[in-house]
Amino acid sequence: MDDPLSWSADDQERALRAIAPWYDLDFGQLTEDIKMLQEFVSAGQRVLELGAGSGRIAVPLAELGCQVTAVDSSEAMLSVGQPRMSEAGVRFVRGDMRCLQLGEQFELVVFGLSTFQHLLRRKDQLAALQVARQHLAAGGRLLIDWTAPRPDDVEPSPQIMHLEWVRASRSGELVSKSVSQELALERTCGTPLDRAQPIAWLTYQYDAVDEAGMVRRSLARFPLRVNLNAGEMAGLLAAAGLRPLDWFGSWDLAPAGDGDRLIVIAELAS
Ligand SMILES: C[S@@+](CC[C@H](N)C(=O)[O-])C[C@H]1O[C@@H](n2cnc3c(N)ncnc32)[C@H](O)[C@@H]1O
Repeated sequence: MDDPLSWSADDQERALRAIAPWYDLDFGQLTEDIKMLQEFVSAGQRVLELGAGSGRIAVPLAELGCQVTAVDSSEAMLSVGQPRMSEAGVRFVRGDMRCLQLGEQFELVVFGLSTFQHLLRRKDQLAALQVARQHLAAGGRLLIDWTAPRPDDVEPSPQIMHLEWVRASRSGELVSKSVSQELALERTCGTPLDRAQPIAWLTYQYDAVDEAGMVRRSLARFPLRVNLNAGEMAGLLAAAGLRPLDWFGSWDLAPAGDGDRLIVIAELAS
């Protein structure tokens, strides 16, 4: 089994190159998290999105009148969103959220849609939270939105592909997305991974069928930190000099534990 902790920036970019062309078809219809974010920001405020991808969140916030800076390490993801980010006045920066130094402060810093789960190791999580802290203005808020722990996060299981959706692309092709999730248990050297901080391999398979019935397949396999609970996040926030203010369990702001998301709002601890 491959070692998720040997995952490199090049591996990540290769996976994202397979996902980027389908990203809007996949996530473009998702607006609930954007509506939630609007509760925490108002026109004129400075917003920093870390791991902004194609600008799915950054663009509507800029259209609302916010001054948005969108940071992502992936050229493939940024290039998908570049035209509409430019048009909406989003400043986009190619950079790593673990070591970003803009020398500016923001009223809202966001890790949206499970972006934080791309940080596999504790030192990467802490580095990214310290970056968030350094970019928070006095009185500013940090919002982190990730997938709540699920029982099957920690169950070793055979890798089964589940069909997630079938949609027509803009060019009229029929596209299907299938997903599988498999717990990573061993490193290549044989050392077990830390079961308290589990990592899963996710596979996204996009199949596009053209008019002649030919199938074009894009496959992306990448590691994600799963089963990240509120207690662990509280510890990480404290270690990074941040203090949680509120916890929610869904994009419509149900109490934490009542939904399939975990969302924390935090502020500078001092
Ligand atoms: C799940 S996507 C979310 C994109 C966007 N926030 C959204 O909600 O549609 C995660 C993004 O995080 C980016 N990312 C992962 N690790 C990163 C890092 N260390 N620095 C900057 N961006 C990173 C990926 O390139 C990807 O675009």
